[in-house]
Amino acid sequence: MASVRLEGVVKRFGRATAVNRVTLEVGDGEFFVLLGPSGCGKTTTLRLIAGLEYPDEGRILMDGEDVTYKEPKERNVAMVFQNYALYPNMTVYDNIAFPLNVRRKEIGLTREEIREKVLEVARMLQIEELLDRKPGQLSGGQQQRVALARALVRRPRVWLMDEPLSNLDALLRVAMRAELKRLQKELGITTVYVTHDQAEAMGLADRIAVMNRGKVVQVGTPREVFHEPSHIFVATFLGSPPMNILECTIEPRGGGGVVKCPGIERPLQWSPGGVERIYLGVRPEFIRVERSPGPGRWEATVEVVEPLGTEAVVTLTIGGAIVKAKVLDEGYRPGETVYLELDWSRVQAFDPETGRAIGELARTLRGLAG
Ligand SMILES: Nc1ncnc2c1ncn2[C@@H]1O[C@H](COP(=O)(O)OP(=O)(O)OP(=O)(O)O)[C@@H](O)[C@H]1O
Ligand SMILES: [Mg+2]
Repeated sequence: MASVRLEGVVKRFGRATAVNRVTLEVGDGEFFVLLGPSGCGKTTTLRLIAGLEYPDEGRILMDGEDVTYKEPKERNVAMVFQNYALYPNMTVYDNIAFPLNVRRKEIGLTREEIREKVLEVARMLQIEELLDRKPGQLSGGQQQRVALARALVRRPRVWLMDEPLSNLDALLRVAMRAELKRLQKELGITTVYVTHDQAEAMGLADRIAVMNRGKVVQVGTPREVFHEPSHIFVATFLGSPPMNILECTIEPRGGGGVVKCPGIERPLQWSPGGVERIYLGVRPEFIRVERSPGPGRWEATVEVVEPLGTEAVVTLTIGGAIVKAKVLDEGYRPGETVYLELDWSRVQAFDPETGRAIGELARTLRGLAG
């Protein structure tokens, strides 16, 4: 049993606030990911959980016990650092075995049992052939896997990982991601994993905390943060390409109203008191690009086509705004006139002042779909 709880945690460096009132609850056995842009406070949050930094305000609890000012070794966590440091004079084998060797008596393992554990994790990370080498004789990606192996060989209360796959090529990264997820689920070790890579976060996490400027903006399952972003920041951080944001107005018309976006108008059965400004969010996957006009289709011009293989990202201009659509690659050409159809059942609405999602309004816009 190992849960982690942060309560109103603040960490300042001089006048800069790296972590700003972060409150989080990581459940027992959960794979929890901290996701956000560079400098948003991910590493600092992880170091606070590890006990390598102490907060200026707030508390950190493990299994309900206050560990805010406890030493790292009293917390029983294993951490993989963003800038992995291996012992240069030890072989890869000894580097991986190190955390077990130093506690050999305490954890009651024989040398043979340690050897089995090291080989097992080396096999999983595809570094078996490197066990006799020194870190200086390894590539960056190989060193990174050794650092990860050194953390995974232990069975601590919590695994803390700071971008442990960042130096691997795309294929290896996807393979390691799958191995890591399998092992974590098999052993049920509570894990807090830091990354700025949304695909990694989506693929690994039970839940994701999206951070920005030292704050947690939203916590949710990968599906929730992707499809129900609580803030425009989350909407435009996740997705490839991210969600389109259109500046629109809602105006009274007749008995109802109308939503007006650049190049797009759509009647509503509901009317605001006056004119309301909103940001309308539409994912590129929920825009269709047609070659013939029709009801509910809006004229646009193809600007750029980025083929992805089966699909393509098509950048379009519509009423002076730029919109990206992710569609089957039907050989669209720059300069071509096309007709867009929005899947209104999937749109989001955000308050232009605060950036917060306006759920009720989005439901009204969606409810009239079809
Ligand atoms: N020891 C330090 N002294 C001063 N400022 C620091 C220190 N450590 C971090 N910071 C600042 O705190 C903020 C958060 O840093 P942090 O390393 O937690 O970001 P991060 O989200 O891990 O970013 P990255 O994705 O680039 O690793 C940054 O503005 C950083 O400059
Ligand atoms: Mg970092």
